[in-house]
Amino acid sequence: MKILVTGGAGYIGSHTVKDLLKHGYEVVIVDNFSSGHPELVCGGQVIQADLRNKEQIADIFRQHKIDAVLHFAALIQVGESYQDPQKYYLHNLLTSLNLLETMLRHQVKQFIFSSSAAVYGAPQKIPIEENHPLNPVNPYGTTKFMVEKILADYSRAYGLRYVSLRYFNAAGADPEGELGELHSPETHLIPNILLHLLGKNPDFQVFGHDFPTPDGTAIRDYIHVTDLARAHVLALERLLAGSDSQVLNLGSSRGYSVLEVIKEAEKITGRKVNIKFGPKRLGDVPVLLASSRLAEDWLGWERKYSDLETIIRTAWEWHQKH
Ligand code: UFG
Repeated sequence: MKILVTGGAGYIGSHTVKDLLKHGYEVVIVDNFSSGHPELVCGGQVIQADLRNKEQIADIFRQHKIDAVLHFAALIQVGESYQDPQKYYLHNLLTSLNLLETMLRHQVKQFIFSSSAAVYGAPQKIPIEENHPLNPVNPYGTTKFMVEKILADYSRAYGLRYVSLRYFNAAGADPEGELGELHSPETHLIPNILLHLLGKNPDFQVFGHDFPTPDGTAIRDYIHVTDLARAHVLALERLLAGSDSQVLNLGSSRGYSVLEVIKEAEKITGRKVNIKFGPKRLGDVPVLLASSRLAEDWLGWERKYSDLETIIRTAWEWHQKH
């Protein structure tokens, strides 16, 4: 089986490529390396191409007999998406349309999509289940929402089968130390804390201290990237076995506040965070917490690394080396 992985040199993509290779799949990675990194390529064949360019995608499908596509490539910064929405629609929406068009032309009809908890917007009910109303509050989340709508329409009309995976807060690093998180600029909480503890992020701030949560800081559902990767390969296996399309949350079903994460990071590293509070970021909600029961039942998905201790420990091992 030959699997095309877009964004396979990125954070979640690279961990998934590793899992695919371990399970005997042949992998073709396509990445434009705008945010992907050559050092996160752990195998497979790599093609440098830009999904905004239909000709480049067509070439890949002409050269390789692809059985299924895992589509990770996207821009992910919520803040930037407010400032430059056009960039987000062109990168996240247009690329998906181009990819799907070429797939259908080549009769490739199995697709795994990297969606996000951002499709829900401000939660009305916690934990969030997949049938929760979708009301994205930023252009980034809207791009993910729009691709999900397109997938539903294409599957009805053209027999595409897909699994859309709505990630909560991806975190941690490959427990074998080969892969990890390399974003530039880094905006995520756990790497920002660890970079601060390594002396590389002196301006670290806790965004908001008056959320309606027990300690006033925002609560998130952190899921280990290796567990996320596993869910993709399980979803692929279900599609290859002929199952219908599905939409799944991927989280740990456990929430931690920013201050709880800092405390755990201090415990694991033996170092002290200089806590400074800053204003809330635009669009940050008090609590994001998934119900992942459907993913557990439908995929037979078990989380092995998603306790906070393992998430921070594996990320710490990675950041110390990079
Ligand atoms: N935070 C800080 N300081 C930092 C970074 C983050 O206090 O330096 C706080 C944030 O304000 C938030 C929490 O830590 O309360 C987690 O922030 P992240 O940036 O790590 O993650 P988000 O929950 O904001 O975003 C994640 C994904 C997005 C996705 C979103 C779903 O990274 O891609 O969940 O809504 F859109």
